[in-house]
Amino acid sequence: MHSEPYTERADALEDFFNDSYTHTDPLSGIDSSFVFDFATYDDLDDGQRWSTWMSVEPLQRGPEPRPEWIVTSQGAIDTDLGILKTGKEADVFLVERADPLDPENGVVMAAKRYRAPEHRSFHRSASYTEGRSMKRSRDNRALKRKSTFGREVAAGEWAVSEWGALVRLWNLGLPVPYPVQIDGTEILMEWITYDGETAPRLSQVRPDADLLASYYDQVRDALATLVQAGLVHGALSAYNLLAAGPRLVIIDLPQVVDLVGNANGMDYLLRDCTNICGWFKGKGLDVDEQELFGELMAHAF
Ligand SMILES: Nc1ncnc2c1ncn2[C@@H]1O[C@H](COP(=O)(O)OP(=O)(O)OP(=O)(O)O)[C@@H](O)[C@H]1O
Ligand SMILES: [Mg+2]
Repeated sequence: MHSEPYTERADALEDFFNDSYTHTDPLSGIDSSFVFDFATYDDLDDGQRWSTWMSVEPLQRGPEPRPEWIVTSQGAIDTDLGILKTGKEADVFLVERADPLDPENGVVMAAKRYRAPEHRSFHRSASYTEGRSMKRSRDNRALKRKSTFGREVAAGEWAVSEWGALVRLWNLGLPVPYPVQIDGTEILMEWITYDGETAPRLSQVRPDADLLASYYDQVRDALATLVQAGLVHGALSAYNLLAAGPRLVIIDLPQVVDLVGNANGMDYLLRDCTNICGWFKGKGLDVDEQELFGELMAHAF
């Protein structure tokens, strides 16, 4: 009675083992929807982090359509390649974002990181509190924490302000680095290069007469577009324009303000015109800040 099902089972087992030995692929016969591709990633080294692309909110990522060089892979790793330039409120680093499984499609970006000022003066302010009573120094610590917090918030606000301006100017079609993402006090943006090198500032180049005239036209056109959108750069100068070969790129935008909404908007615009015309005049171009200002105003309203 019992022998029949037993024999059946034994036969089935034998078939199974025979199959296992004849098929080298252990996944054969399994529906492909149950099969996952997986690969292991190495641990992170110093100066590396997992890509922050997926961890920020959608509005903290750059405007669409996105350039095709943006790396969105969840397995991507950000590697600090070193500092590009230290500035007054921020430092600019180069960061490579690449998926180790797809390294050819990695990209190098500029990371502008706003600093909280006490990172520079920490030691000095610590020595100011030395020798105080316990109670006072505890208060001081609390105060310091509060002000540290306050300054970090301020650094974050500058970053948010520059992010907003970058996105706005990019959407206006102005020549600014593509804004990739903002995360706290860090903005990742397109690295502006020429011939594979970081593009120099306008202040560092000596363009011939034709290029000089073309650069000026580009600045004037950009100012006109800004003014028509009701905006002023607020710190325009030969230091905040990058010369990428034939093309100028506008950077350093945290102080962009409304031309009319801000009480100083007009003053800032005149100052931008004065700075920029001053540089071009120094290179021998016949331009005039009052004329430029008047021309921009005529287009504005
Ligand atoms: N997207 C970029 N691509 C290439 N270089 C960049 C980029 N952004 C910034 N830089 C370089 O870093 C420098 C500092 O950037 P930025 O002017 O935005 O910061 P900052 O803190 O205002 O500096 P500063 O105080 O010198 O004006 C620039 O002058 C330029 O040389
Ligand atoms: Mg600058």
